[in-house]
Amino acid sequence: MANMSLICLFLMIALLFVNVSEAEEEIRVYELKNREFSVKITNYGATVLSVILPDKHGKFNDVVLGYDSIEGYKNDSTYFGALVGRVANRIGGAHFTLHGIQYKLPANDGNNTLHGGFRGFSDVIWTMKSYKKDSHITLTYNSVDGEEGFPGDLSVMVTYMLIEGNKLAIKMEAKSLNKATPVNLASHTYWNLGGHNSGDILSHTIQLFASKITPVNDELIPTGEIATVKGTPYDFLHPRSIRSKFNDLPSGYDINYVLDSSSNKHLKKVAVVEEGKSGRKMELWSNQPGVQFYTSNMLKDTKGKGGYVYSKYGAFCLETQGFPDSVNHPNFPSQIVNPGETYKHVMVYRFTAD
Ligand SMILES: *[C@@H]1O[C@H](CO)[C@@H](O)[C@H](O)[C@H]1NC(C)=O
Ligand SMILES: *[C@@H]1O[C@H](CO)[C@@H](O)[C@H](O)[C@H]1NC(C)=O
Repeated sequence: MANMSLICLFLMIALLFVNVSEAEEEIRVYELKNREFSVKITNYGATVLSVILPDKHGKFNDVVLGYDSIEGYKNDSTYFGALVGRVANRIGGAHFTLHGIQYKLPANDGNNTLHGGFRGFSDVIWTMKSYKKDSHITLTYNSVDGEEGFPGDLSVMVTYMLIEGNKLAIKMEAKSLNKATPVNLASHTYWNLGGHNSGDILSHTIQLFASKITPVNDELIPTGEIATVKGTPYDFLHPRSIRSKFNDLPSGYDINYVLDSSSNKHLKKVAVVEEGKSGRKMELWSNQPGVQFYTSNMLKDTKGKGGYVYSKYGAFCLETQGFPDSVNHPNFPSQIVNPGETYKHVMVYRFTAD
């Protein structure tokens, strides 16, 4: 009898601990807001849920694709708004060798690893470290040694910040605690400057400050070549509509651009995107070597916010990043973060409308 009650007591204590740890991992939504701007973020995947901005007439629209409920994000295969890692983009053959050790990764995209594996940083619950509605939110995540096949414990942090009324900055950091590991984080927001429910983005004009791309094979893995955009449909050095050379491509844009170096040693200008009807303009700066330009080629009849069905080309992504599959291409800038080192990635968006 005494034994039974002792066991019951232990069970109750155990349950209490389970409840406490679950409470810590609660999924929540946080809003950053000033006069011109509202951005909603959840700690599920450190995801951007909405960005609400005025158009040239002062009418507000949500300009990012997403779902009405967190359930939508849990069931999602598009990575709407998510913070992706430990290694964003593809790793060819789902393996790499580092310091003589071969690491096998989960193949969640054909033969390859995409966006950190089956349960990357976009599918975990982050911890809110600091939040002030009119300025910023900081979320953290501790990735453990061996998680999705990657080596070493990694302490990850992302801050979303409103600056000067019309800028949104994203600061990502990752500190390697005990083993060398590749790190490549990316913000996977799907933008449509006409509004998330306004159809395709082909009439947007875009300028990309990149003279080169990293061409890929038919599994979207870089060949290792670095090729000029000159004379190809990939040349956006001068602003033109996304549609203008679309027919020369097999299926839209899904390619890493090599960003041109800039005179400013901290941040390079990445892109300027404009939408005529709303007058909205987005400028983007970053400290990264590359940017993936993706025109939602794989998006297919996805029921999103307010029941609106998102179709192919319904948004564009500009994912600043290290080059895809860098771990298997010694000629690409290294993504290896050694113990004690900190990976740092900055993005700054500026929004205007006229
Ligand atoms: C989950 O995703 C599948 C396929 O992407 C979709 O058909 C289904 O409706 C989604 N379920 C919910 C609850 O969103
Ligand atoms: C995976 O690789 C094998 C062997 O190279 C190839 O035959 C197959 O088509 C690849 N699978 C996909 C989905 O690309």
